[in-house]
This record gives sequence, structure tokens and C-alpha cells, in this order.
Amino acid sequence: MPASTRRSFLTSVLGTGAAVVLVPDAAAGLPAVPAESTAATGPIENAPAHQVTTWLNGAAISAKVTGDETVLNWLRNDRGLTGTKEGCGHGACGACTVLVEGKSACACLLPITALHQKKIDTIESFGAPGKLHPVQRAFTAHDALQCGYCTPGFVTEAIAFYAQWRADRGTDTPSRDEISSAFAGHLCRCGAYEQIYA
Ligand code: FES
Repeated sequence: MPASTRRSFLTSVLGTGAAVVLVPDAAAGLPAVPAESTAATGPIENAPAHQVTTWLNGAAISAKVTGDETVLNWLRNDRGLTGTKEGCGHGACGACTVLVEGKSACACLLPITALHQKKIDTIESFGAPGKLHPVQRAFTAHDALQCGYCTPGFVTEAIAFYAQWRADRGTDTPSRDEISSAFAGHLCRCGAYEQIYA
């Protein structure tokens, strides 16, 4: 069974963050104290832009982003990488899992500005039809999906888990319990857990 081809174009709009500037208190002769800038409290169109450079799926990307844009929205809306899914949007379902410097992370919780000069890998980088990653082949062999919406997150987590497992233990044979705890942050609404663990 091929990996899911379902595409959802959920979008969300985030508020702006307030920048902090230093205002010297000259009259009192006191050292500068922090004060909130009024310039950064407007609507989203006035949000300050930041230049961010990342290594996305092996390619250096330099882009202008707004301060609070999440990695999830940036990937899906700005980069057109819709393999990373939005489920809960709150770090509870694992659908948005990506690798940051080789470790799994929820893209819905991370501001893209926090990943300046970091390496991000998404599901699009792991395999392609006819050239699947071994984890993707295993999911196919075990029919480990139903609707497939959670599959990119599970596959990404499994790839990070096996890489770490191999580095720590030098084997490819975690137990079923160890595999299920690696997936503790992932939800499958179809309940395909047994096939996924297999
Ligand atoms: Fe990020 Fe659910 S969408 S954890």
C-alpha cells in the first residue's frame, strides 16, 4: 500500500511578538531599563521580519520570516512541503514531527526563527516512490496505516529512533515496548498501533 497522498491545506494565523528595546532614563541618571516597543504590537502585517538560514532537506535556504511563524506553517505554506501534517497544533499528536539536527521535534511548537543555522529534515527527504526508506518499506509491508494522516509523523519518529538506537547500542533490535515508548507522543485516530509497532 503506498504512503498517503492525502493533502490538507490547513492554515492558521499567529499573533506578533513584542520586541524589547532599551530606553535610558537620562533624567534620573539611572542605567537603561527594558521597555516594550510600541512598534511591534500591531497586526500581523506589521510583524518584524527576520532573515533565517536553514539547511532544509540538505539544501541551504535563506528566507525572510515573521517572528512568530512556526516551522509547521513555514514548511507547508511558504516552502510547499505538505508532507508534514497539522493535527492538534499544540504538541500533543505528533503529526507535525520533523527532525531538527537529527532529533525529532514538533514543528507546530517551534518558531522558525529558533532554527536559524540549523538542519531540518522532513518526510520529503527520506524516500520517494520506488526508493523508499527502510522504515517506509516496513510500514508498507505491515500495512501500518489506514487514513495515513499520522504516518509521516510516525515514520519520521521511527527514523530518528532507529538512528539513535544504533548509535547508542549498535543493534537494530529494540523490543516492542521500547518501540511503543518511542511513539508515546504520537496518536493514530484509526488505531493502527499494532501494525505500526510491528
Ligand atoms: Fe504538532 Fe499535533 S500538530 S503535535
